[in-house]
Amino acid sequence: MFDTMTMTKATGAVCGSLLVYLLAAWGAESLYHVGHSGHGGEEMAQAYSIDTGAEEASGEAEEAAPDFATVFAAADAGAGEKVFAKCKSCHKLDGADAVGPHLNGIVDKNKGTSAGYAYSDALAALTADVWSPENLNGFLENPKGYMPGTKMSFAGLPKVEDRANLIAYLATVQ
Ligand code: HEC
Repeated sequence: MFDTMTMTKATGAVCGSLLVYLLAAWGAESLYHVGHSGHGGEEMAQAYSIDTGAEEASGEAEEAAPDFATVFAAADAGAGEKVFAKCKSCHKLDGADAVGPHLNGIVDKNKGTSAGYAYSDALAALTADVWSPENLNGFLENPKGYMPGTKMSFAGLPKVEDRANLIAYLATVQ
């Protein structure tokens, strides 16, 4: 029925299509691997570094450690003059009131006593008290926390060095 030539052709055809199939499967597999588990995925995972802020937080804790009296004893009035730039929009040092009262001679002066300035009720109620360096330190760190109801719209100076230097500078301005 089948002669040798027919058998040879049939075998050749089967082997040929098997070879084509294997090549196609290999080609498809290598393409699939490149796209799916290539280096891209791993590199992207390592490209993200998440900043937890942990280092910053511990740095701030160390800065908060020295107490005001210690820092104030070594304060630098010259550096404080630069910090006063943050107050200039509201406070003058020529004896004239502006948005805020003038700050001439403010260190150890009675609170809320610039004649003619319209203080908030909160500050006007404190005239028996003085602006000692310690009191100024508390007020300038967090004005609204120190004096609820004050109309001084200022967020505060978080660094104790800035407050100490500024108060040392204000003490030189009579
Ligand atoms: C946005 C304007 C503004 C800024 C900025 C500001 N202040 Fe004031 N400050 C005021 C006002 C308004 C008052 C009056 C508060 C009240 O009556 O409650 C005041 C009150 C004060 C008082 C009390 C004065 C007194 O006669 O009893 C001091 C001290 C003071 N400020 C210091 C400072 C310093 C130092 C800075 C800068 C670090 C500063 N302020 C920044 C508006 C400001």
